[in-house]
Amino acid sequence: MEGLHNWNSRLVSCCILCLFLAIQATYAQGQEGFLSIQCCADSNVTEPYTNISWTTDANWYPDHRNCQDITPSDTEYDKARVFGSHLGSKWCYNLTTSKDQDYLIRGTFLSGSLPGTLFNVLIGVTPVGLVNSSDDTEVEGVFKATNDYTDFCLSKENGDPYISKLELRPSNPDYLKRETSSILKLIDRVDVGNTGSEIRYPHDPYDRIWKPEPNPDQNDNLTTLSDTNITVSNGSMILPPIQVLQTARTHPERLEFLHNDLDTGYYEYDLYLYFLEHNDSVQAGQRVFDIYINDEKRQELDILADGSRYSVVVLNFTAHGLLNLTMIKTSHGYQFGPICSAYEILQVHPWVQGTVQAEVDVVVDVRDELLKANQNNKVLRSWSGDPCLPRPWHGLSCNSSSGFSVITQLNGLCGSRGSSGSAQGIVIGTIAGGSVLVMVAVGIYFLFFYKKKMAKGKFSAKGLPMAKSESLSLLDSKIS
Ligand SMILES: *[C@@H]1O[C@H](CO)[C@@H](O)[C@H](O)[C@H]1NC(C)=O
Ligand SMILES: *[C@@H]1O[C@H](CO)[C@@H](O)[C@H](O)[C@H]1NC(C)=O
Ligand SMILES: *[C@@H]1O[C@H](CO)[C@@H](O)[C@H](O)[C@H]1NC(C)=O
Ligand SMILES: *[C@@H]1O[C@H](CO)[C@@H](O)[C@H](O)[C@H]1NC(C)=O
Ligand SMILES: *[C@@H]1O[C@H](CO)[C@@H](O)[C@H](O)[C@H]1NC(C)=O
Ligand SMILES: *[C@@H]1O[C@H](CO)[C@@H](O)[C@H](O)[C@H]1NC(C)=O
Ligand SMILES: *[C@@H]1O[C@H](CO)[C@@H](O)[C@H](O)[C@H]1NC(C)=O
Ligand SMILES: *[C@@H]1O[C@H](CO)[C@@H](O)[C@H](O)[C@H]1NC(C)=O
Ligand SMILES: *[C@@H]1O[C@H](CO)[C@@H](O)[C@H](O)[C@H]1NC(C)=O
Ligand SMILES: *[C@@H]1O[C@H](CO)[C@@H](O)[C@H](O)[C@H]1NC(C)=O
Ligand SMILES: *[C@@H]1O[C@H](CO)[C@@H](O)[C@H](O)[C@H]1NC(C)=O
Repeated sequence: MEGLHNWNSRLVSCCILCLFLAIQATYAQGQEGFLSIQCCADSNVTEPYTNISWTTDANWYPDHRNCQDITPSDTEYDKARVFGSHLGSKWCYNLTTSKDQDYLIRGTFLSGSLPGTLFNVLIGVTPVGLVNSSDDTEVEGVFKATNDYTDFCLSKENGDPYISKLELRPSNPDYLKRETSSILKLIDRVDVGNTGSEIRYPHDPYDRIWKPEPNPDQNDNLTTLSDTNITVSNGSMILPPIQVLQTARTHPERLEFLHNDLDTGYYEYDLYLYFLEHNDSVQAGQRVFDIYINDEKRQELDILADGSRYSVVVLNFTAHGLLNLTMIKTSHGYQFGPICSAYEILQVHPWVQGTVQAEVDVVVDVRDELLKANQNNKVLRSWSGDPCLPRPWHGLSCNSSSGFSVITQLNGLCGSRGSSGSAQGIVIGTIAGGSVLVMVAVGIYFLFFYKKKMAKGKFSAKGLPMAKSESLSLLDSKIS
């Protein structure tokens, strides 16, 4: 009854026919689609325990001058790339993705000695988290790629942004089925009952990191399944690794999980709860409990109701600051109290639309052409990620009044024309490169011209001189 008004409080369950190690076999796969970057690393390395192959970020940022050693080092990797420039406000890793594929992305930010630094982490142009240098932080999100590349960006608020590691993995598509145009930011992923170390790849093919409980309640009883023979009949089910399901927490009356470290603003969250019945003798109707979120009863659960021993429950809720997840044995004389194997708390962020793709393509082409002949130009080098969002590139103006960002002006590039290699001066390529550039500049010229024409609703030559002078000012600079 209670669960009926919650669109997604539907109990999803599937059969565990028997306990079987077979599940392990389906998990034994390679790192296809994995991208694992250690920023500022000198060489590629393979981690012995996880067998994850890490590469350097030299393809994106070859420069080692802005690398910092993090001291004291209490982590395995102890370097950070620091982005500093008065020209740029955003630094991105342009990552190759497959359109419509779901991904997990995880940035690791080791702060070292950079007090007072604050920056936003963006997936595409959607902000998913603020990094505060007072803590080492991981920011992880699940998103659906909308293009054949996705930018992972750091957008400056205060001080110089930094990053140590970046990981991209194909994700289980189930997470985004409910939230089709959203990014889910991970708040916590808890392996209930685990008192050992975290579990990730190769045990988890999606390389989700399942963390042991930070401060388990010593009064609850832990249970551990000794045999690992578990098979879930429905392969499409969202499923933690077997090592995670093997440990659980149970209590004769109630289990309480408190998280008072949620963001203080109002956010919507998706909560994934994973249950495996550990006691072979328990029958349907013997272990029934209610799930409460922040004192509201959301779901009554009998794990075995569908004849299976495994269930997943997904609930959404809105909260600010606090999650009180409590499972209480239903009053009327059931034999067993609640049991729980794992849960994930994901914060829902609506996907933010980037600048119109055709405009991005043109301006990126112009940038790349100009960069060929102006490799040390600081303005061009600061042009990273989306040209307009969250703030426009230095020298660019954008208009987002129609709901989409469009580029309206290219200016400020030629402030001190001619001084090659200076921050502002732009050199227009070699003769050969120049002809391509002329075409690109003409492309921009037509882009502006076309847009002005559209804005006025009729052909008008009035827009011409301005657009012309804008694109020509690029060419004016200096032809070498
Ligand atoms: C676990 O798997 C082994 C080997 O397949 C089998 O002999 C054993 O009976 C299984 N245990 C259970 C409880 O199913
Ligand atoms: C480690 O990964 C490499 C490539 O990803 C693979 O060839 C190798 O078999 C893996 N080794 C182990 C022990 O899993
Ligand atoms: C590191 O790996 C990347 C990607 O696989 C490759 O492009 C690069 O050449 C490698 N670098 C070294 C020093 O082996
Ligand atoms: C960053 O963290 C410090 C220490 O926890 C806190 O005092 C400060 O207010 C935080 N800054 C922001 C903008 O949240
Ligand atoms: C733990 O389990 C034991 C045996 O099953 C039981 O006697 C005890 O009451 C349990 N403790 C708690 C706090 O539930
Ligand atoms: C798995 O479950 C889904 C929905 O619960 C169902 O549509 C699908 O047919 C099932 N697949 C198998 C192989 O049982
Ligand atoms: C498992 O269930 C049986 C009967 O249903 C009960 O006697 C036994 O104590 C349970 N075991 C544990 C560890 O709770
Ligand atoms: C958590 O929720 C449960 C169920 O509503 C309630 O009994 C308990 O007092 C709450 N705990 C805290 C610390 O608020
Ligand atoms: C759960 O999600 C649905 C659909 O997105 C929404 O209408 C509902 O308000 C959400 N419930 C809560 C408690 O946030
Ligand atoms: C990202 O890289 C792709 C492929 O290399 C390229 O087509 C695209 O223009 C780049 N995007 C930006 C914003 O630089
Ligand atoms: C932005 O575009 C709107 C129409 O889409 C137009 O009315 C407005 O004047 C433009 N603003 C600027 C500063 O170009």
